[in-house]
Formats: sequence, structure tokens, C-alpha cells
Amino acid sequence: MKIIKVKNYDEMSQKAAEMFIGKIRRNPEINLGLATGGSPVGLYKQLVQDHQTNHTSYKKVKTFNLDEYIGLSGEHPNSYRYFMNEQLLNHVDLNKSNTHVPLGDTENPGQQCSHYEQLLKEHGGVDLQILGIGSNGHIGFNEPGTSFQSETHIIELTPSTREANARFFTSLEEVPTHAITMGITSIMRSKEILLLISGDSKQDALSQLLQGAINENFPASILRTHPCVTIIADEAALGK
Ligand code: PGA
Repeated sequence: MKIIKVKNYDEMSQKAAEMFIGKIRRNPEINLGLATGGSPVGLYKQLVQDHQTNHTSYKKVKTFNLDEYIGLSGEHPNSYRYFMNEQLLNHVDLNKSNTHVPLGDTENPGQQCSHYEQLLKEHGGVDLQILGIGSNGHIGFNEPGTSFQSETHIIELTPSTREANARFFTSLEEVPTHAITMGITSIMRSKEILLLISGDSKQDALSQLLQGAINENFPASILRTHPCVTIIADEAALGK
């Protein structure tokens, strides 16, 4: 894993955007793996600004999101489809039919999982995956204990994840209990991975990622076995 140390969140977003924009320009048909949460918001802002100023084109880009809450439709303001539309997809020249987020309000979430995994395979997989990390080491919604062999699946969210995400809802009770997430194997198939880590609340997660054991109790630890991972971490996350 390559680690790029930066001063703060803004510099992390800037560096990540430079990397993304370079890749999109070199490969205009790139398949991007996208993530939600606070970590990539600054990156998406930079991508929108660059699109408006420098006209980097997304006409042939395809996007695949990591996860979605079960029970929320794409119109729900807390759904990840809604988040992605607001933060990025509505503001660049992407063809909407090339943007993919698992459907959270489907009658048959199990079938949606196999459909999504199939979709990833049919399109040749993700070229560049953006990731955040949960303080419990989750990537996507793969909570501790998730099999390293997993493909897209249904997951029950841990209390700590629901509490962390309650900041986006009006109450903890409103946070869905389950989600559809790309599995660890699905994520590991990405040709390249960019992991963004910012803030002192991520210090423990980062040090465990770098120095802890590689096992399913800390899902992100598997990234140490991937051939092409870049971490951009800020001073607060790196600590002393
Ligand atoms: P965050 O979430 O980017 O909002 O910190 C990361 C995660 O929980 O995967």
C-alpha cells in the first residue's frame, strides 16, 4: 500500500481529485467505484468544479456505488442514490443510465444482490474504487465478521455504524437496520483502490489497518493484500 500524507481534509480531497481526473482523462471509458459518507464529499466537490472549469467529460464513464440502505427509495433524501445524485452525478455530464447504485426499495433484496454482482461482472468490473473506512474497519457496509469471500450481499448494520450514521437522520430509530453492500471479494476485484482517511476519529482504524492482523474482524485489513491501494491520510488521522 502506498500512503500519501496530507495536512488536512481539503488537501486530501485535492490530491484525490487530481488522481481521479488524471485517470478519467487517460481512460474516458473508466468504470468508477463510488462511495458515500463524509470522506469523499470534498473529492466530489472538486470533480464538479473541475468539470465546470476544465470540462473533463464523463460521457462514457460508468459508476458503481458500494452500497445502499434497504427500505429507502432513490428519492429518499437519506438514500445513497440521492446522496450521489446531489453530490456528483447531477452535476457532471454522466449518462444517468451509466450510474449504478443497488436498489434499496426492491421487493427482493437477495435477487438485487446477485443482479448487482452480475452487473459489475458484465461491465468488466471497477477500474478505480474510492473507499472510506468505518472506525470499526468496515469498507462499504462490510461490517466486522463479514467473510473475505463475500460478493454483493445483505448485511445487518452494527449499532456503532447506525449511531455514526444517525447524524444524517432525525433520529437513530430512522436509520435502516440493513443494507445491500458490495462484498469484500467484489471490492478486491477493483483494479485500483483509493482509500481516504481524515480526522482523529479515524486514528485507531488507520493504525489497525497498517499494523493489525489481517482478518475478518477488521474488514479493511484485507486491503493490505491488494496489489494497488493508495491511502491518502491527513495529519489528524495519522496522529503522532
Ligand atoms: P465517513 O464514513 O466517510 O462518513 O467517515 C466512512 C464509512 O463509514 O465507511
